[in-house]
Amino acid sequence: MSTRAKPRVLLMHPILDPGPSILAEAAEVVTYPPDKPLDEASIRTAAEGCIGIVSQLMDPIRETVLSTPGLRAVSNVAVGYDNIDVPAATAHKVMVTNTPGVLDDATSDFAFTLLMSTARRIVEADAFTRQGRFRGWAIDMMLGADVYNATLGIIGIGRIGRGVAHRAKGFNMRVLYYDPNPLPPDAEQQLGASGVDLGRLLAESDFVSVHVPLTQETHHLLSTAQFAQMKRTAILINTSRGPVIDEAALVEALTAKKIAGAGLDVYEREPAVHPGLIPMTNVVLAPHIASATVRTRSEMSAMASRNMATAVRGGRPPNLLNPEVKR
Ligand code: DGY
Repeated sequence: MSTRAKPRVLLMHPILDPGPSILAEAAEVVTYPPDKPLDEASIRTAAEGCIGIVSQLMDPIRETVLSTPGLRAVSNVAVGYDNIDVPAATAHKVMVTNTPGVLDDATSDFAFTLLMSTARRIVEADAFTRQGRFRGWAIDMMLGADVYNATLGIIGIGRIGRGVAHRAKGFNMRVLYYDPNPLPPDAEQQLGASGVDLGRLLAESDFVSVHVPLTQETHHLLSTAQFAQMKRTAILINTSRGPVIDEAALVEALTAKKIAGAGLDVYEREPAVHPGLIPMTNVVLAPHIASATVRTRSEMSAMASRNMATAVRGGRPPNLLNPEVKR
């Protein structure tokens, strides 16, 4: 039996089974103190002596952390990785991995959940009923927007965007999408979605659902000018990343009734929510839970742990984002 100590891996936050046991087989797991702030300097201090970090989307993993001597891998328990400076990781020969695929269905389901609940005012209706304000049926009570036969505009036609388009078929929706990398014609036909430019998508859609990663190009993709192009009856759904939408401009557009409502799972300065959104009854707010199903979060934990275990053992992790580090 070998007496060599296992390499150390820093686990930033708890993960779900079977993640911890997969990690523990490959490494000595050091947990990040829950009361420590999530700033780069503190993370670097905790990462000293570790070969890997299992991070989550709220952890800033940039130059200060990535230059920690001996660090070889960062495994993000998320498909999005805008919290990690991948070019800096590559420069320091640190492998970066994410968890693609396993959360597509849960996230697509949730985008549709937000769409339905905003259109049909379900949160408002629930509060109204619990407060004892339902005193009899009325023809004009809680009127909402039709989903069946409506036009859905999908911004970003990656796996999750396609999942939303697929769900929209069941509601007989006309589906438009905007993506700088359009689908081939046969894929469009199969999905029942038509590629258009962003202006047309905004002008024609009853619902606009955002499914792009956060990059320099997508930061504030939707702001004052874009809200002005939307229908006054339109509803905006965001399950991607908060900063894709200019939140102050969204509050202005909602206040000025330039658009009718929004269903949001993500925020520009998470976990803070723009105070202007809080009193709005035409806005449904969720705490970044689109992937939060038991199966999905467990699969994300397992996938991230397998990525890290492979890296610790000297292999090439399956979901490597910077393959140039490990040829
Ligand atoms: C992700 O994975 O990027 C989601 O935002 C959280 O599941």
